[in-house]
Amino acid sequence: MNDLLEGFLGTSIEGKKSRVPAKLDYIQSATGLFLGLFMWGHMFFVSTILISKDFMHTITKMFEGSMFFSEPQPWVVSAIVLFVFAIFIVHAMLGMRKLPITFRQYQAYKTHMGMMKHDDTTMWFTQAFTGFAMFFLGSAHLLMMAVKADEIGPYGSSERMYADVMWPFYLLLLLAVEFHGGIGLYRLCVKWGWFEGENVKESRKKLKKVKWAVTTFFLALGLLTLAAYVKYGYEYSNGHVDEFKPTAQLELRIDQKVRA
Ligand code: HEM
Repeated sequence: MNDLLEGFLGTSIEGKKSRVPAKLDYIQSATGLFLGLFMWGHMFFVSTILISKDFMHTITKMFEGSMFFSEPQPWVVSAIVLFVFAIFIVHAMLGMRKLPITFRQYQAYKTHMGMMKHDDTTMWFTQAFTGFAMFFLGSAHLLMMAVKADEIGPYGSSERMYADVMWPFYLLLLLAVEFHGGIGLYRLCVKWGWFEGENVKESRKKLKKVKWAVTTFFLALGLLTLAAYVKYGYEYSNGHVDEFKPTAQLELRIDQKVRA
């Protein structure tokens, strides 16, 4: 009966409101934090191509469990992707609650934003917009990585960027991820009072500076990485270089030939 009344009135018989929205907010923050920190690691992993093709190959094989199995197993990567995908879906589902879903809500928000001219309010719009874009872009990328985990590497990834013309897709995803993630992590700090210190105004100013520095760093790293994959893809596609073989394997083959 209590549930029924609460369903109609929005409060329990005692006049208390449900704690579920607060719990959902907490889960949204926790999944956002996980995804934000995961993305930092992910960007470093993907950008290993800037050091060398061999290094990116070694890291890829490490994620395929090269330390535990005699042969690398791409299904390990697929399993990791599916786990991240599950968190991504939970985070997106919870984020959906906050989007303006009618024209009236959108109009009220726009007017509010225009009048306030407050950075954090304007940033929220960017976050909502990039979050919406990531429903599609992020899901497509994760699905692709899950089913084509065996094609991740200096050759497969470069071919995907250039020959499969995926670079415009990745450019959009990169912009969406970096703005969404940067603003998201900043808002987490503000919401839960992390790094607040004595002077809230001062600490928020500093936090905003750090946010922009982090976003600029990961955008620059991401763009350089994207350019490297496109360059290698171009070289592979036009026969300027042979398909990638790890240097260790080439040395072994040369060694065997010399001995024979
Ligand atoms: C475990 C899960 C993930 C794996 C294994 C993975 C793997 C990769 C790989 C191998 C690339 C290089 C391009 C390619 O081979 O297609 C890439 C690029 C990229 N991924 Fe992921 N990814 C994962 C999750 C995500 C998530 C959750 C996002 C954000 C929603 C994301 C955003 C990006 C972006 C923006 C790029 C382009 C980076 C650049 O150009 O610098 N990835 N990812």
